[in-house]
Amino acid sequence: MKKKILILGIESSCDDTSVAITSNRKVLSNIVSSQKIHQKFGGVVPELASRSHQKNIVPVASLALKIANIQKKQINAIAFTNGPGLLGSLLIGSSFAKSLALSLNIPLIEINHMRAHVIANFIENKEKTQPSFPFLCLTVSGGHTQIVSVKSIEDMRVIGQTLDDSAGEAFDKSAKMIGLGYPGGPIIEKKSFGGDPNKFIFTEPKVNDLNFSFSGLKTQIFIFLKKEIEKNPEFVKENLNHLCASIQKTIITILINKLISAISKSEIKNIAIAGGVASNKFFRSEIKKLEKKLKIKTSFPKIEYSTDNAAMIALSAYYKYKNKDFSNLNITPDCRYKI
Ligand code: KG4
Ligand code: ZN
Repeated sequence: MKKKILILGIESSCDDTSVAITSNRKVLSNIVSSQKIHQKFGGVVPELASRSHQKNIVPVASLALKIANIQKKQINAIAFTNGPGLLGSLLIGSSFAKSLALSLNIPLIEINHMRAHVIANFIENKEKTQPSFPFLCLTVSGGHTQIVSVKSIEDMRVIGQTLDDSAGEAFDKSAKMIGLGYPGGPIIEKKSFGGDPNKFIFTEPKVNDLNFSFSGLKTQIFIFLKKEIEKNPEFVKENLNHLCASIQKTIITILINKLISAISKSEIKNIAIAGGVASNKFFRSEIKKLEKKLKIKTSFPKIEYSTDNAAMIALSAYYKYKNKDFSNLNITPDCRYKI
């Protein structure tokens, strides 16, 4: 039997401290500690994020090893997110990764977070739903919204992206305006239940090519809410479900329409999604509907591998390990690391 490659992956680019152990494409453990401290500020506070990573990283790593039932000395390589992300947060993960790799005398592998979101689609699962090459991946997270043309694990090209806010930010900022908590996406999804998505109509931005824009929508919602609240101070309370369903539908429709353009331009018929917003069930069902309409094949990572997680970092490193694509100990984080 061929030797299994065991990788310890570390994710610390934003507000989730995560460590995972993978054996080839299988996840043995994936521990995610989501920082609650940012909730009261309605968004991530970078300095508080770094401090929490520093506090969490050792216990999270110990738990990941324990759950996977793996000893440190069995690990073949250490992987970590080298960007894009918050500098202080990335530094905690990379310093920890370097010291582990050095002390265990095993290879260090740096990973691009946005590539890893795409690669999350290849985590081994019973349903064997991984996409076939070439495919388009619509990656929608808190920091990014992009359509990636994927010819192979190594060959990825961004063919469209947001010119301002990301779709995740559109959820988060809308939630903040209507007085809901952070992160806004999952709360808006929950509150949409039972609401009429066509009750309030917001216009779609007109953006050329395969690019996106969400900042105009934010202003539109702000002005709309201001006017309605002036007329009726109880407006939000009385219309919460309809409001959330309408905002959710608008954001998802913008994403879906661009994806349709990308499919028609590229003639690529295999579609995957990734990133935190990809855990949204309405989004998943709208993508699924395209299967029949456009005769395409779609695949989604499991919900826990859509939002930030270290399993996608460890799996990305598995492919690099096979190519002996190792990193030097003097590598430094790249906050604006491009795909
Ligand atoms: O990929 P991710 O976990 O972190 C980044 O790399 O940014 O994405 C976080 C984003 C947040 O904006 C959050 O509101 C959004 O994903 N999100 C959702 C849902 N779950 C997370 N948006 C809509 N519906 C959800 N269920
Ligand atoms: Zn992410």
